[in-house]
Parts: sequence; C-alpha cells; structure tokens
Amino acid sequence: GRAIELTPSILSANFANLGADVQAADQVGCSWIQVDVMDGHFVPNLTFGPPVIQAIRPYFKGTLDVHLMVSNPDALLEEYAKAGANHITVHQEASVHLHRTIQRIHEFGCTAGVALNPATPVSSLEDIIHDLDLVLIMSVNPGFGGQSFIERSLTKIAAVRSLLDQRHHEAVIQVDGGVKPSNIASIVQAGATNLIAGSAFYSPTITPHQAWDAFVAALA
Ligand code: DX5
Repeated sequence: GRAIELTPSILSANFANLGADVQAADQVGCSWIQVDVMDGHFVPNLTFGPPVIQAIRPYFKGTLDVHLMVSNPDALLEEYAKAGANHITVHQEASVHLHRTIQRIHEFGCTAGVALNPATPVSSLEDIIHDLDLVLIMSVNPGFGGQSFIERSLTKIAAVRSLLDQRHHEAVIQVDGGVKPSNIASIVQAGATNLIAGSAFYSPTITPHQAWDAFVAALA
C-alpha cells in the first residue's frame, strides 16, 4: 500500500511557543507539517503571515505545507514560497485562473495542491487534476480546529482516488478536519494518503509523541 503521512496542523499549536511545537513534530517523525494561512475574509479567522513561516522554517526538516485559505492566493504565492514553503495549496473556490495559479506555484519551486470545501464537487478538478501534486479534501468547513468530521468526505476521497486512477495520475490525497485516531482507518480505506491532525496532535492532554503513537496504533 501507499505510505501514509500524518501531518500536524500548527493551528492548534501553542503560538507562544511555536518553534518548540514545530520541532516536536519533527522529532516524533512527521515528514510534513501544515501551516493554515487564513485571511479573515475567505474564512472567518486570521492566522500566519510569511514572517511566521520564515521563523519556523529552521525548526522543521521536512515538507512545510502552506494551506492558503485566502481570497486572493495569487497575490501571496511568491511571499510564502520565498519564506520557505515547500508545498502550497490554494482553494478551488478562491481561484479564478486556477491553471495559471498552479503553473506559478511550480515556477516558484513548490509542489501544488487544490483544496475543496465540503460543498465543492470533485468533478471541478477534472481539467486540472493532471497538473496537481496534491488534492485536499476539507472534511470540516475551514476556519477552526476541533470541529467534527463530515462523513460525506469519505465519498469525495474515493471519488478523487478514482479520478486519479482514471487519469493514470498520482497525487497526494490529503484530508483535513476532524481527523482522529478513531476515524483514520476509514479515511485511509477511502483512499487518503496524507492526514492533517490539528487538535488531535497538539492537545493540552497528550504529548505530540503520544498523539503520534495513537495514530500509528489506529493504522496498525
Ligand atoms: C481548519 C484547518 C485545519 C484544522 C484542523 O480550517 O484547515 O487544518 O487545523 O484541526 P482539527 O484536526 O482539530 O480538525
């Protein structure tokens, strides 16, 4: 089977001690980490600018995945790429010229992904999926951590898998929102290969190591 990546989302990390929390993810063995960039317009929350990516870059050896939940991603691509992003995901719903946007992400030296909100059909990817390195299925309405997994997401994950198989194209299928040790097996079973964990990874009650172990045990 395909290797499964557990990708912590720093939205749930301790912002007063971010370098340490990012380094903890590195140390437990995560090879991806996700930075949820929110502009307070596309989603009702406001988070990390390029200076924060620059600040945490030295603390993480793996893939720094920037998820742009912003209304005008084209205006920000270069800044986040220069700040240290290895991967950039934009939203289908926020992109007017998505083919060009994906081209530009690649020109800046990053891999490129497209995120679909819960109501956005997988079919909207039919004419761009062959250019993508990653598809992100939002299993919550974006903006906040700690929400419940939207069950319909399992159908969408399977639809992405079959679209990739039809097109003989390989891409990461990433799932974000409400991912827990209790539902990770069904999410992987549906075809996901990269799982975002916010509140299940950065939690006041368990350490990142314990969180990692809980996810590994759930996939055993
Ligand atoms: C939500 C963010 C998610 C969030 C996930 O808008 O994009 O990455 O941090 O948090 P949990 O895993 O707690 O749902």
